[in-house]
Amino acid sequence: MKIIKIDLQDRSYNVYLGNIDSNLNEIHHNKVLIVTNPRVSALHISSLLSKFHSKQVFICTLKDGEIYKNMQSVEEILNNAFIHKLDRKSLIIGFGGGVIGDMAGFAAGIYQRGIDFINIPTTLLSQVDASIGGKTGINTPFGKNLIGLFYQPKAVYIDVNFLSTLNKREFISGLSEIVKVAVCFDRNFFEWLENADLLNNKDNLTYAIQRSIEIKADVISKDEREDSVRAGLNYGHTFGHIIELLGNYSTYLHGEAISMGIIKANKLALELNRITKKESSRIENLLLSFGLPISYEVNNKDEFYNNFYLDKKSQNDKLRFIIPNGIGKMEILENPSKELLLSIL
Ligand code: GLY
Repeated sequence: MKIIKIDLQDRSYNVYLGNIDSNLNEIHHNKVLIVTNPRVSALHISSLLSKFHSKQVFICTLKDGEIYKNMQSVEEILNNAFIHKLDRKSLIIGFGGGVIGDMAGFAAGIYQRGIDFINIPTTLLSQVDASIGGKTGINTPFGKNLIGLFYQPKAVYIDVNFLSTLNKREFISGLSEIVKVAVCFDRNFFEWLENADLLNNKDNLTYAIQRSIEIKADVISKDEREDSVRAGLNYGHTFGHIIELLGNYSTYLHGEAISMGIIKANKLALELNRITKKESSRIENLLLSFGLPISYEVNNKDEFYNNFYLDKKSQNDKLRFIIPNGIGKMEILENPSKELLLSIL
């Protein structure tokens, strides 16, 4: 069992990486509401339930997919919490991918002004990124994750065995978040990824998950609310969130959109001489080797450009982009010109 600490003073918590059977040590609550989706529930809920002893456990099953990451689903969680009379000593567990974790965390953060919340992520994307760091919330017709809270879980339990039932497209989608942290924060890890088989070797995959979590833990411990270095975790996301929005959250999976977004961010970095053509090709080749999509054709550049202003990093009408500065370092680019942005779209 590997334990990685997220160091946030009185809100610190552990990420447990290992077999969930020998775990769940932090669940001492008498009432537990598990939020999940039909697919995860069908595959894994009975085994999870068998680990709870003498507790009242309730299950709220939400429709699956990014298009259901909305207020209606959050209301469904809250209604379940009221019906089962959860109180301030109760617990909400997010058991599923990033969509479930984000909504379960958001509901926990606003129910009775905040009750305990734990994440048990079952997708690669949520194991390496979404389940850790306390970003919770929902999408709106105006954009992705525009409503939400920073609300940290009490613990995160990561069991790589859940990934064996994940479909291939979902699995591959999660790899883009691993590439993201490597490019922005750890050159050695990037080089290791270039030579490691993650698709067929469980030890390699486990190491990649662990390293991604360690990097994210360090970043969040330094900058919980994204005032500085945490913005690096948005590499590819400014473009990617718009790609998701324009596809009505149903054309591309989050990680696929991020992969295409990384390529757009690299174009900016290339134009500004922050990376070389060779570095850009190495990043592109790594994404391609994982089977991630890299090309996205922007049909309406003005529409795409206007959407940048809804990005949460933009401040006082000034746009901010995350670009790599070489491999292993990132930079926050303040307010590039409209002309430059249109040219790389
Ligand atoms: N997913 C990016 C972050 O947690 O900051």
